[in-house]
Amino acid sequence: MLVTQQKVLRRFWYPVIPSDRLAGGPHPFTLLGTNLVLFRDAAGKAAALIDRCCHRTARLSKGWLDAGNVVCPYHGWTYAGDGKCVRIPQRPGGDPGKNIGVKAFRCTERYGVVWVALEEPLRDIPALPEYDDPAYRRVFEFYEPWQAPGLRIMENSFDNAHFAFVHKESFGIVDEPEPVQPRLEADPAGFTMYADVPVKNPVLQQANLGIASDRTVRHYEKTWWMPFSRKMKVTYPNGLVHIIMTLTAPIDDRRSQVIQFLLRSDSEADAPAENLIKFDRQVTHEDMAILEACDHDVPLSPTGELHMPTDRPGLEMRRMLARLLAEHGESEVRRDGSVPPMLASAAE
Ligand code: FES
Ligand SMILES: [Fe+2]
Repeated sequence: MLVTQQKVLRRFWYPVIPSDRLAGGPHPFTLLGTNLVLFRDAAGKAAALIDRCCHRTARLSKGWLDAGNVVCPYHGWTYAGDGKCVRIPQRPGGDPGKNIGVKAFRCTERYGVVWVALEEPLRDIPALPEYDDPAYRRVFEFYEPWQAPGLRIMENSFDNAHFAFVHKESFGIVDEPEPVQPRLEADPAGFTMYADVPVKNPVLQQANLGIASDRTVRHYEKTWWMPFSRKMKVTYPNGLVHIIMTLTAPIDDRRSQVIQFLLRSDSEADAPAENLIKFDRQVTHEDMAILEACDHDVPLSPTGELHMPTDRPGLEMRRMLARLLAEHGESEVRRDGSVPPMLASAAE
């Protein structure tokens, strides 16, 4: 599936930038191949406009902000957060007249993140009740582009069979490769997967978790939200809860912008944020090294790649995405331009 070719994917909210990074804009961002300019407008609201001036197509993100309006760097035409042109400096008094402006996109903020939808969203931004629960502290981990499509990133995080290999240096048990089979619970917006997985518990994690043993068990409750975000809730035997939110936005057919933050049921005194980030970064870099070298055009058809039983979550993602396309009258577009014959049956 080439994400920029599937129109229905424009109808979801995507996490584009952490709210605290919006200051100092304007910022360029590419979402599903569409160039955007992001900034905080005069009312303090996050704004997303097409990054293309309506005068001579200059990139607004190369301009600057003037009292919450973005100024084009070419001739100074100035746009408000709703896309309306509010000043044309070459005209008397700068009056832009009526009906001049650029396209503005739906833009909002939740969980300390700016979200954009290119077209009317099919669903709301996923619910995350723990975010406002004082029982949890928040730890920001990273914001960065990965050279991998969202579907590869998503199915990897629901794949119990890769731990013993990809994560052999961090938490995978290399000589126990037989994976735990997951249990899935369907949801209209995705699914939740449950699994109790034995893991290696290295010294840094022993301190991070307060578990003085070289092995422990992760009780996983992982939620996939169509199309490319997930919540990974891990409960350890001592009751500690570690929630990793991995929110991704498709930049283009090959790349995703990834935001990751934690919600933890302990305190900074129990485990410094710096050490939590250190271990999770080791794990995510292990995933990244593999995923960035996989084929970016993930087939939705079950016959497109070979599978094993622990691939069920990834197969379910493919099946649900195929059904989404079919429901909106679309066929899956592949790299060679072909439409796979299995799509119809995958969508049933
Ligand atoms: S191109 Fe933007 S003002 Fe001329
Ligand atoms: Fe992984």
